[in-house]
Amino acid sequence: MHKLKLVSKLMIPMIAAGLLVGCGNSSEADKANGSAASSSAIAEAGPASSSVDNTTEDTSNNTAETEATSESANTSSTIEEDIPIEIKGITERSDEMRDISAKELVAEMTAGWNLGNTLEATGDAGLSSETSWGNPMVTKEQIDAVCEKGFDSIRIPVTWGNHVSEAPDYTIDPEWMDRVEEVVNYALDDGMYVLIDSHHEESWRIPDEEHIEAVDAENIAIWKQVAERFKDYGDHLIFEGLNEPRIKGSADEWNGGTYSERLLVNRLNKSFVDTVRATGGNNEKRLLLITTYGDSHLPGAITALEIPEDEHIGVAIHAYEPYAFTYESGESWELFKWDGSHNGDIIKVMYRLDSTFISEGIPVLLTEYGAVNKNENTDEVVKWTESYVSAATKRGIPCFWWDNGIYDQQGEKFAIFDRKNLSWYREEVVDTIIRESYSK
Ligand code: GLC
Repeated sequence: MHKLKLVSKLMIPMIAAGLLVGCGNSSEADKANGSAASSSAIAEAGPASSSVDNTTEDTSNNTAETEATSESANTSSTIEEDIPIEIKGITERSDEMRDISAKELVAEMTAGWNLGNTLEATGDAGLSSETSWGNPMVTKEQIDAVCEKGFDSIRIPVTWGNHVSEAPDYTIDPEWMDRVEEVVNYALDDGMYVLIDSHHEESWRIPDEEHIEAVDAENIAIWKQVAERFKDYGDHLIFEGLNEPRIKGSADEWNGGTYSERLLVNRLNKSFVDTVRATGGNNEKRLLLITTYGDSHLPGAITALEIPEDEHIGVAIHAYEPYAFTYESGESWELFKWDGSHNGDIIKVMYRLDSTFISEGIPVLLTEYGAVNKNENTDEVVKWTESYVSAATKRGIPCFWWDNGIYDQQGEKFAIFDRKNLSWYREEVVDTIIRESYSK
């Protein structure tokens, strides 16, 4: 543990209204506005973010969710006092598999970061795929820099389907497996928590009746090999079975799927869990993350998720919320500023995840979130990040920023870390992530 120059805000409730001192970014005023605006409907669409849900179940939660957003409309004011934060930084590697619950393990995790557009890039075959989307090869120095900044958890998205032999063996290219293991070890050596996921498999992992038998067979074959390779690793290594399982281009792609698609995703979750557990060793107790159709947080999708009877299960969800702010859409309803009036959109998601999973003892991880840089709106992204991460942290949900390495090139400009220069692009955003994550 070492001290970070960053400061956290100690919120001291005041009886009289209107007293707010200390450092600048008050989220309280923003939050108060958020409740009033929470019900204002914005047409949204996009990856794991749409609030347009055509499922009928959704209305059942609306009243509770609207009430939940009023938690942010705190009428009492606060004094904010700067207190120093201690961040973990690089710590000892642990290869222990402790007998602790999923909830206890997740409670240890603080701030998460995605090594995006790298080991899941599909631009080339073989080992060269790692750099095929423009990112440099992963180095130990990059991971050290991320860890030293305060990120104690890392998600390593991996595409496996591009690196396997033909059916029925689907043998993973051993060189690819070795490279993944090498990168995983960079992070474990720093004492980090590491998520390996199975990403960008949409070309074959199609959850419909026509494909499901073959999909299930390949999913099982891949996870069996990955689980075998890592079965002796300790509890800092976590597997996330499916990234955004969905039918690309289908009508409900970003709406949480149809009834039958959700059932098929449940089937894939189950075979992932059964396969990993059957490999034995530390995999019997490893934390496994299952997910909803498309990693959706929408009510229809999360209530349809079947949780296997197993003590070491968590739920992975993606929420780029609200889409109007976090992505570039070019639509008339796009948001560039974060004035707090849409804060209720964030609170609603957190409430929903809490009431569906966390209150039932199932931990949740937001394994993807983030906001793109648009028109150099860093100050606005700082405010959004504060609203988002504080709301998640309050519920005990660790968040993993989606960093695809894209900052000033074409594409979704999610990057916060400059991997070539080992420096930070939007450092105020990064500091906000760290400060809010450590305020738990
Ligand atoms: C999903 C996609 C990834 C994309 C990200 C943000 O994870 O798989 O390609 O960059 O969402 O849009």
